Amino acid sequence: MSVTPDKMDILRFKLFHFQPFQLLCTNFNFRLKMRKQFIFLFALLISSNALLAQVFSEVVKSPDGKVQATVTFDKKRGNASYKVRYKGKEIIKESKLGLKVRGEYLYTGMVMLGSHTATQKGTWKPVWGETEEIEEHYNELTLELKDALKLKMNIVFRVFNDGVGFRYEFPDTKQVGLISVLQDATVFNMAEDFETWWAPSDWDSNEHTYSHTKISEIDATKYLSDIEPFNQHIVDVKAVQTPVTMQSGSGVCVSIAEAALADFGALHLKADSSGHNFTAFVIPGINPEIATVNGLPFKMPWRAILLSPDAAGLLTNHLILNLNEPCKIKGDLSWIKPQKYVGIWWELHIGKSGWNYREADGKPNPRHGANTENVKHYIDFAAKNGFDGVLVEGWNEGWDKWFNTNKAELFDFTKPYPDYDMPEISRYAAEKGVKIIVHHETGAAVPSYEQQMDSAYNYLRSFGFNTIKTGYVGHLFPKGEWHDGQRMVNHYNTVLEKAADHQIMVCAHEPVRPSGMHRTWPNFMACEAARGQEFNAWSKGNDPSHELTLIFTRLLGGPMDYTPGIFQIDLNQFDAAKKERVHTTVAKQLALYVTLYSPLQMAADLPENYEKRPDVFQFIKDVPVDWSETRILNAAIGDYVTTARRQKNAGDWYIGSMTDETPRDMKIKLDFLESKKQYEATIYEDGPDAGYNKNPYPVNIRKETVKKGSKINYHLASGGGCAISIKEIK
Ligand code: NOJ
Ligand code: CA
Repeated sequence: MSVTPDKMDILRFKLFHFQPFQLLCTNFNFRLKMRKQFIFLFALLISSNALLAQVFSEVVKSPDGKVQATVTFDKKRGNASYKVRYKGKEIIKESKLGLKVRGEYLYTGMVMLGSHTATQKGTWKPVWGETEEIEEHYNELTLELKDALKLKMNIVFRVFNDGVGFRYEFPDTKQVGLISVLQDATVFNMAEDFETWWAPSDWDSNEHTYSHTKISEIDATKYLSDIEPFNQHIVDVKAVQTPVTMQSGSGVCVSIAEAALADFGALHLKADSSGHNFTAFVIPGINPEIATVNGLPFKMPWRAILLSPDAAGLLTNHLILNLNEPCKIKGDLSWIKPQKYVGIWWELHIGKSGWNYREADGKPNPRHGANTENVKHYIDFAAKNGFDGVLVEGWNEGWDKWFNTNKAELFDFTKPYPDYDMPEISRYAAEKGVKIIVHHETGAAVPSYEQQMDSAYNYLRSFGFNTIKTGYVGHLFPKGEWHDGQRMVNHYNTVLEKAADHQIMVCAHEPVRPSGMHRTWPNFMACEAARGQEFNAWSKGNDPSHELTLIFTRLLGGPMDYTPGIFQIDLNQFDAAKKERVHTTVAKQLALYVTLYSPLQMAADLPENYEKRPDVFQFIKDVPVDWSETRILNAAIGDYVTTARRQKNAGDWYIGSMTDETPRDMKIKLDFLESKKQYEATIYEDGPDAGYNKNPYPVNIRKETVKKGSKINYHLASGGGCAISIKEIK
């Protein structure tokens, strides 16, 4: 066991918490009165034994000693608290721990039964990811508690070099049977009024823009009048989504998130209007409980505090993944494959075609996108350009019923529309070496989907396909449940498990935001759970700092199906009156393939738009979706980032660099390349006078021969980017 409690810290804590001592220290005449006080101090020291027994306090340090969590239990009051220091500085001041269960607060009147420590040191290899090996090294402390009704509760702390995780566990519920958890009462008492990047706490949607304020200034009032997303449910304007990311005056970054979210409502946080602390705010369901737990030893999801000396470090932080359990899929995993895909998708969003086979009045829709001929056209394009998959939306019965029937039965996942010839498409796709990504939009009609899951999965497997894109657009059925509540969290996880049984990979849209579950279920390739590219097609869109905020917040929990790669920035191709556009340059669309990590990356634009610019499209054809190594060359939250990644099991590197609305001159040094080797760098940079607002199209492509230590200079236009492929010259 290598947890070494810091004796000095414990002593300091005990002395500090002893009031007579505090009074003496602040007494101006302390020295003069020394003699008089001697007898009293002597008595104090003798009585400190009794005091020691009243307060349990242990410092759990990270293996490198830089992170310290002090966990305290006040035996007199019966409550637990913690605080966190990083590199000698306080990050979280003393903060309460506890839950509200069955109307009782499990943070006062508890009895401490004991404590124990442990250490874990090892490495593990993700099936796919940003790096091929991850170190898992932490020191752990478990506090064993019991309430007046004999309900046992453990609080477990794990301290890693890149942050702190803690969670509540009910090791034995036999005595009490069903437990209703009414709220998580954990406090995060931040040491400063940090700069904060946050999205509003919405029980039903994650598809919001981000704001950047101090903690004390958090106020989501402006989001209430926003019509996007239409099914929003914002209950408290001081509450935010997790992960919420903060930065101190000295540059230290902190993100509060959760890991391994299962059988529980999702964690949001309420900011205190008078100061700068957060209190946990877990989303309930139809009933006010945030979770009902029965007949178990039960472990709640982890509360994760990610720590990094700077913004760049946050992007290679592995705390969330390390707090998740190892892979639960047994046996052969070779069916799980990172993929690049195209599909019948953007054309639906920009109005070239539609999802419905029939209009609402039953007449055929002449613009139905998912017809056999159009699908074959995409299959041809995918095969020609080396893509693995073709996503097809609008292929099955149900789309024309969506807005006028009740949600008890809506979509049919084994019944294609009459103009979608499934056997022929399956044959043609197999001949071309491409697989269809089968869309399962549920329209948030959840029980109906649950009934059909097995038959739907057997159906698509029988045609040789093994990836689904699920969707939960709109208000949920059963009514009263929320996208972030326990009922839905269980649903999303059931889909992953069932899909794994059928050897199916999953990309989920409109789910709860991810919490690193792809370690446990590596068939969980990506999800949306944030405001994606689609908003550019039909709303005010995403401003140039949006993706630069997403990667430091939402993406910390797992990959996002953002769907980059739009070349036709003005979206009036099929409707001259259409004013919407994408708020980037074309070069920035290329950069997103590297900066915004996902093992499932779409080339979202239409084949005809790629065919017009084959030289620029080459980068999308080349860029891999699985990596051995990732380096962040520079980063500032919401402003800019430059990411370099090495292709999985290969020596080639790819770089993505992007900025918000501010143009920047960048200089990068390639000191990560292997020595004694030569490489050809192809640089796709914003062309002359480019800018996201007026001139998004020019991309200048140039080549340089480079080696370890070479420097590359380039200019990022306003809302611009740069993408670089670096291939070894053999
Ligand atoms: C919203 C999803 O995010 C989008 O990708 C999909 O095309 C539509 N729903 C329709 O299912
Ligand atoms: Ca969506």
